[in-house]
Amino acid sequence: MSDSATLTVDGKNYDLPIVTGSENERALDIGKLRSQSGLITLDPGYGNTGSCQSDITFIDGDKGILRYRGIPLEAFADHPNFVEVAWLLIFGHLPNRTEYEFFSRELTENANIDEDMKHHFAGFPRSAPPMAILSAMISTLSCFHPQLFDLETDDQLEKAAARLISKIRTLAAYTYRRSRGLPYIYPDPKLPYVSNFLHMMFSEVYSPYVPEPEVRAALNLVLILHADHEQNCSTSTVRMVGSSRANLFASCAAGVSALWGPLHGGANVKVIEMLESIHKGKMSAQEYINAAKDKSSDVRLMGFGHRIYKNFDPRATMLRDVSEKLFAKLGTSDPLLEIAQNLADIALKDEYFLERKLYPNVDFYSGIILRAIGIPANMFTVLFAIGRLPGWIAHWHEQNSDPNMRIARPRQVYTGNGLSHYVPMEDRM
Ligand code: SDX
Repeated sequence: MSDSATLTVDGKNYDLPIVTGSENERALDIGKLRSQSGLITLDPGYGNTGSCQSDITFIDGDKGILRYRGIPLEAFADHPNFVEVAWLLIFGHLPNRTEYEFFSRELTENANIDEDMKHHFAGFPRSAPPMAILSAMISTLSCFHPQLFDLETDDQLEKAAARLISKIRTLAAYTYRRSRGLPYIYPDPKLPYVSNFLHMMFSEVYSPYVPEPEVRAALNLVLILHADHEQNCSTSTVRMVGSSRANLFASCAAGVSALWGPLHGGANVKVIEMLESIHKGKMSAQEYINAAKDKSSDVRLMGFGHRIYKNFDPRATMLRDVSEKLFAKLGTSDPLLEIAQNLADIALKDEYFLERKLYPNVDFYSGIILRAIGIPANMFTVLFAIGRLPGWIAHWHEQNSDPNMRIARPRQVYTGNGLSHYVPMEDRM
């Protein structure tokens, strides 16, 4: 295969090098296109544009492949451990016992937030959207750890990562407790990562919540499946903000805001609202599918479709299995799971979805599992953020470690007014 391409414009040829990745993805390097030809490229939504080269996550959307640092996602299913996956994504290898125990200790020791941060929680209305609070509180967190603004060494990065990954649980749990007028439950240093989060969410002052092992495993896996997904909207936002040399906390706070959108991480909430509206009989599954196919309606089959996956999202397949096993182990059921499976069955036989290669994505089943654990829908995207945080940190670090990093500053094609003149107020129509 050739290692360059030739672009011919107005009779002139321009050679564009072709970059080939370790999994044989190929890209035209247009780094010199404007200086050589005066041309730029135009690609709204960046569906055809690579922003960087990265070693962290590999996705083959046609084959439904997702690997973290080369390890297939399915490898984590039997012994899900979110903490070791966080280390893998950030530092590039599975932690050995010494690294794992050190990082776990750091997470335990940094679970509390400064007592003064509680004043900030008190400043929000109880009805405040949890994602608004989370983004604000991650930024606020940086004010209490100014020593972590400048991360020059892996040791400093490890400390900042541990503080963020540990405290995001506390921020999330306190957000939930505050919204219900419940007392804050302090983290318990004896508990591992996920158990401590569930303890802070659901324990009462003199009555600790002890999750079933199946619940712990299910939530570890949900967080692992959300941990990274290469250049998605929120991760690209973290890179964009980090490219100005903004600190890690500010960059991740921006990532939370991008994730909040209903087309991105906010979709898991919209899926539950969709399933509940079908469950309440407002619309049958077929009627909902018909509306999602009708261009004149603004209805979309939430949890379906993906910019990259034109096959099954492997995370959706794993989450469907987790939800079925969790209900079987807990001896419970959820009518919304049956509705989801019915919707998927109908859609996956419908030409509209098949010809557009629209399959269930990570958001289609995740909310059903979180519901089974007792997490309210308005906290689903917060859980997505807890899962995605290691990926954001890994990408921020990868970009900031690149000696050739430049501030991200895309171009545009201007389509506005030609030269125009100022018109004094009295002369305006
Ligand atoms: C996440 O990027 C990532 O990696 C994201 C993520 C991650 O881990 O970070 O995987 C997490 O964000 C998952 C996606 C969650 N969002 C949803 O489930 C919302 C519903 N899905 C769609 O809005 C849509 O599929 C997107 C946003 C996910 C993808 O949008 P694209 O790639 O811009 O696709 P598109 O809007 O151009 O759609 C192509 C066609 C259109 O029809 P035509 O104009 O060709 O006739 O497919 C149709 C769309 O109308 N279509 C849908 C649809 N998704 C696409 N029609 C009905 N229902 C849908 N869900």
